[in-house]
Amino acid sequence: MATPNNSEVYRYPEYYALGYRWNTEAECDFIEACLEAHAPNVGKRLLDLGCGTGRHAMDMAKRGYEVTAVDLSPEMIRYLKQETEQQQLPIQASVGDLRDLKVDGTHDVAICFMDTFRFLLTNEDILAHLRAVAQRLVEGGLYLVDFWIPRQWDQAGNEIFQWEQTEGNTTVRVFYLQHPDTIDPVAQTFEDELVFQVTDKEQDIEIRGGPTRTRLILPQEWKALVEASGVFSLLSSHSNFDLAQEFDRETLSWRMVSVLKKHS
Ligand SMILES: C[S@@+](CC[C@H](N)C(=O)[O-])C[C@H]1O[C@@H](n2cnc3c(N)ncnc32)[C@H](O)[C@@H]1O
Repeated sequence: MATPNNSEVYRYPEYYALGYRWNTEAECDFIEACLEAHAPNVGKRLLDLGCGTGRHAMDMAKRGYEVTAVDLSPEMIRYLKQETEQQQLPIQASVGDLRDLKVDGTHDVAICFMDTFRFLLTNEDILAHLRAVAQRLVEGGLYLVDFWIPRQWDQAGNEIFQWEQTEGNTTVRVFYLQHPDTIDPVAQTFEDELVFQVTDKEQDIEIRGGPTRTRLILPQEWKALVEASGVFSLLSSHSNFDLAQEFDRETLSWRMVSVLKKHS
C-alpha cells in the first residue's frame, strides 16, 4: 500500500465544510447536465472519490441519487457518516484510497472533484485508477474529474489561490499555496499546501496543512493517458463547471473539468 500523503487540514472537517461550500450546487448541476447530455439512460448511482466532507455526496443524495463515497481521511468519513445519519441520506461512506479502490457495486457516474485526482502521482497510478473506476461503472457510465492546470508555463507550480467563507461567528480563510522550489521536473510532481486561517467565536486559529506532493498533469498528457487506459473516451473538458464553456485559451480556469465516458 502506498504511503499516506495527505494534508493536516483534512482533520478539521467542520472548517473544511464551511471553507469549501461555495460552488457545490453548480458542481452538482454540472453532474446532472453531463448525465442528461451524455448518458440519459443510466441510473442514479453515484460514486464520489476523495469525497472530503461529502458536500457533493449529500447534495446529490438530496436530489435522489444513491451515493457511495470514499476518502483517505478518517476524520472526513466520520463527519460524513454523522451527517448522513442525522439527515437520513442514502450514502455509504468509507475510508479508502484512490490508488487501491475497494468499493463494491456498480455505479452510473463517478466524480473526483476539487483537485483530488492529482494525488495520483505516477502514470501507472493514473492508469490503474482509471481502469479500477471503469470496472465499477455501467457501460456508458461517466467519470467526471477536475484538477488544477497551470495557466501559464512560467507559473507551473507557482500559483496561489485564496478565498473565505463566513457563517455565524465563524470565518474560514483558505489559502492554497504551491512550492515551486520542490518541483521534480522528471516526475512532474511538486509540493503544495493548504492553510486555514479560522476565526471561531473571536478566537484566531491557523491550521497549516503541511506540504503534500501532487502531480502536474498537462492537457495533452491527460488526453493521452485517458486514451491509453483503453476504458474511457475523453468527451470534453470545460472551465467552471459549465458544459457550454469549453476549456480553451480564452477561458483557461484553474480547474479543468473533464467528462470521461466508459466504452460500451
Ligand atoms: C481538496 S479535498 C476535495 C474533497 C471533495 N472532493 C470536495 O470537492 O470538496 C481532497 C480530498 O482528497 C482526500 N484524499 C487525498 N488523497 C487521497 C487518496 N489517495 N485517496 C482518497 N482520498 C484522498 C483528502 O482526504 C481530501 O478529503
